[in-house]
Amino acid sequence: MHKLPELSYARDALMPHLSEESFDFHYGKHHAAYVSKLNDLLADHEWSNLPLEQLVVASAKTPSAKAIFNNAAQHWNHSFFWASMKPQGGGKIPPPLEERLNKRFGQVETFMRDFVAAGSAQFGSGWVWLVEKNGELDITTTANADNPLTQGARALLVCDVWEHAYYLDYRNARPQFLSRFINHLVDWGEASRRLFAKP
Ligand code: FE2
Repeated sequence: MHKLPELSYARDALMPHLSEESFDFHYGKHHAAYVSKLNDLLADHEWSNLPLEQLVVASAKTPSAKAIFNNAAQHWNHSFFWASMKPQGGGKIPPPLEERLNKRFGQVETFMRDFVAAGSAQFGSGWVWLVEKNGELDITTTANADNPLTQGARALLVCDVWEHAYYLDYRNARPQFLSRFINHLVDWGEASRRLFAKP
């Protein structure tokens, strides 16, 4: 049985950038629904014991398993999103990660601007990621439930740009939500740990 991940912070701990109401709906309703639906789809299924990442990859390759992919990938994406944030996030970047961002994007501010622009330009529902692919950092966007696991890239951080992620707090102002995410919510330490973790 898949289940919602434990959070390392309280549901009201990301205020004032994400309200408790918004967090409750997003984590407690939207994410919980993906998990519940996934468990329903996997009842008596040959993949019922697969770890989540393997399930995402296997279902992505199997056209008849689209519903399993959508719910498994959305479970993985949301779990990754919660872990990409922390209370009093943003701010100082661990120097080794900062160096890599400067090397790739010229300066951190350019990365942050490009990340907000990419997430704002994603048409419809999706996600904006910082990834490492072939040893290089990059910004990528995915539509709906898609994610870097199926694209040969390693995810370092993500922001959810589905309307349900920001509409209660920001209405239609997706760029403002993305700007708050990258300046005040992102957990740079977690992104750095992921980048420098042994494969
Ligand atoms: Fe979401």
